[in-house]
Amino acid sequence: MSQELLLTTAELAAAPEGVTILFCGPELALGQTATAHWSRTGQALDRLAAAIRFAGKPGQLLELIAPAGLDVDRLWISGAPAGSDGAAPPLAARREQGGALMARIMASRTEKVVIVCDGADHTPEAVAELAAGLKLKHYRFDRYKTRRKPEDDAAEPDTLAITLVVADPKATDKAMKRALAVAEGVVFARDLVNTPPNILGPEELADAATDLAGLGVDVDILDHARMEKLGMGALLAVARGSARPARMAVLSWNGGKTGEAPLALVGKGVVFDTGGISIKPAASMEDMKGDMGGAAAVLGTIKALALRKAKANVVGICGFVENMPDGNAYRPGDIVTSMSGQTIEIVNTDAEGRLVLADALWYAQDRFKPSAVIDLATLTGAILVALGQDHAGLFSNDDALAGRLAEAGAASGDKLWRLPMGPAYDKLIESRFADMKNSGGRFGGSISAAQFLKRFITDTPWAHLDIAGTAFGSPAGEINSSWGTGFGVALLDRLVRDHYEG
Ligand code: BES
Ligand code: MN
Ligand code: ZN
Repeated sequence: MSQELLLTTAELAAAPEGVTILFCGPELALGQTATAHWSRTGQALDRLAAAIRFAGKPGQLLELIAPAGLDVDRLWISGAPAGSDGAAPPLAARREQGGALMARIMASRTEKVVIVCDGADHTPEAVAELAAGLKLKHYRFDRYKTRRKPEDDAAEPDTLAITLVVADPKATDKAMKRALAVAEGVVFARDLVNTPPNILGPEELADAATDLAGLGVDVDILDHARMEKLGMGALLAVARGSARPARMAVLSWNGGKTGEAPLALVGKGVVFDTGGISIKPAASMEDMKGDMGGAAAVLGTIKALALRKAKANVVGICGFVENMPDGNAYRPGDIVTSMSGQTIEIVNTDAEGRLVLADALWYAQDRFKPSAVIDLATLTGAILVALGQDHAGLFSNDDALAGRLAEAGAASGDKLWRLPMGPAYDKLIESRFADMKNSGGRFGGSISAAQFLKRFITDTPWAHLDIAGTAFGSPAGEINSSWGTGFGVALLDRLVRDHYEG
């Protein structure tokens, strides 16, 4: 039912049609091709602009409907992002501009759009980011809607064809292929987070991971028996209350040098988190279908890397479990033994994510000896209190890795903010009966969770991203109208591109 989106490029000579979009700079300056189109309308741009106070700023739009002299339904002049001090605008701004334009394109109900990307600022890379923004904002999750509002049915075309008119179509196609691969990874992650928990259990998530084998990814799925043999007592404790058995997905993308130690990405994949015996209140519990957002980000990243054939070795390791209350469920007071051999006293069955990660992190280091390990998890409500929904929490034992991640966050739009760690916080999880307990209480809840994870890191550079505030439920933004955001995919792709390739 979703509208199909077609994105293609064409040479500058391509004819305007449908909704044609031109960009102008701050002084209402148009590029050469845009000027040629505009002049055929016979209109004075400065007069029209003054009449509606259009100054060519990002987000501003000047519209002519069925103008004389041009065979188009609408001609739009869009303000373009400007760089500071004459520098090119940042790529994230291009992506946001694509998103903002898509919102208007969809509202216009058109099926044909021509976007004129002329001028020196429209490098292949810049146009590719614009295209990614168009695609990401176009995404909708309506698989479970059996009917639309009658007015929508009548008006929405089945396909939307957008032509990006550029100076160098060949180079732009190449850049676009990469950018759209990343967007495809983001969309994959969004789909997984949006899919309801009755449809997407641990086995179904493992199936979704297995599908990536079609792109050249090595996929190994561990079932209950194999995990038990490996001694994954922490992860398996969480799974005990569920009728649906746990799985672990191990994905390897080997696009780099043979024998080079991989980057390991570890994801929390709790398909639904009721809290277990320490059950959550009813309000908004349905949101806990998104508690596999970390795993979705890892799978989306592996998909993006495979689609764009990244020259890096990256492994993705995700634990899939459901946290349910049941006669067979684990309980507060239980002591479980993790794969590392360390024992954990359960004081709250709702602090389950760290138990899943404890065994997944250990397995990742034990089996792959990675050069670095990054985990992503919707781990604590406390991170929402600390950072809200605009930044994910970043914790690390390595300043260089933390710095690279923060930079990739700023560049990709998946923003991170580093929080402290230290022995005083580690004290909070000391247990009277076991090596540690699984909750350090309310104060600094995100930090004591990170301290818990750190106990399962040997001497590998490690970072933990708490994405409980950013993986789902954010207010609609420039490039996202979806509940599940796909947070983390663009970030990790950026990190790999900047530091793990070539
Ligand atoms: N999945 C939740 C964290 C969460 C909360 C994610 C809100 C997204 C939105 C996690 O498993 C959890 O329940 N954490 C507890 C930890 C506590 C019991 C130490 C929390 O944050 O309350
Ligand atoms: Mn929980
Ligand atoms: Zn959880």
